[in-house]
Amino acid sequence: MSINRVIALILATLIIVLMGYLISQESTNVVVEKKQISQEKPIAKVVIKSEEEQKLEDLKKQAGSTLKVSNLYVVRCSSCHGKKGEGTRVAPSIMGKSQEYILKKLDDYKNDRVSNSLMKGLLNNATALQLEELAKEISNFK
Ligand code: HEC
Repeated sequence: MSINRVIALILATLIIVLMGYLISQESTNVVVEKKQISQEKPIAKVVIKSEEEQKLEDLKKQAGSTLKVSNLYVVRCSSCHGKKGEGTRVAPSIMGKSQEYILKKLDDYKNDRVSNSLMKGLLNNATALQLEELAKEISNFK
């Protein structure tokens, strides 16, 4: 009986030591792999950015400019000029115009250089920054 117990104990400790050894081996392997990955990453990034990522970024920019419409435009402008500036019966299309052109127009209305009671009333309390943002946004409508 007691010899059996001693053998069982020895076996158990052997197994535990083995398992500990295996685990420590595995974890060092993992660490090494991680190190290799983190060393390779910057190189891979540079390569990708020059081709695929650049395309992706361009696509994202395009999607952002055509799909996203600011709250300001939706609330203040879209009722007359349409959801994407395509124009309605009330107001002309403002689609496909340059940022400079739109900004100048808005500024003209606001400062009464071009009198239009509809547009002036709307722009009376818009800030210069808001006008600039609107102009930038509208110039991207397609
Ligand atoms: C109540 C209706 C109405 C709303 C709302 C409105 N507009 Fe207008 N908008 C007009 C009308 C009408 C004209 C044409 C005026 C004219 O011929 O001088 C115009 C003209 C313009 C023009 C000049 C177009 C061109 O080619 O000459 C721009 C740019 C413009 N609006 C931008 C905006 C922006 C930005 C907003 C939101 C802040 C806005 N509008 C809100 C009615 C509206």
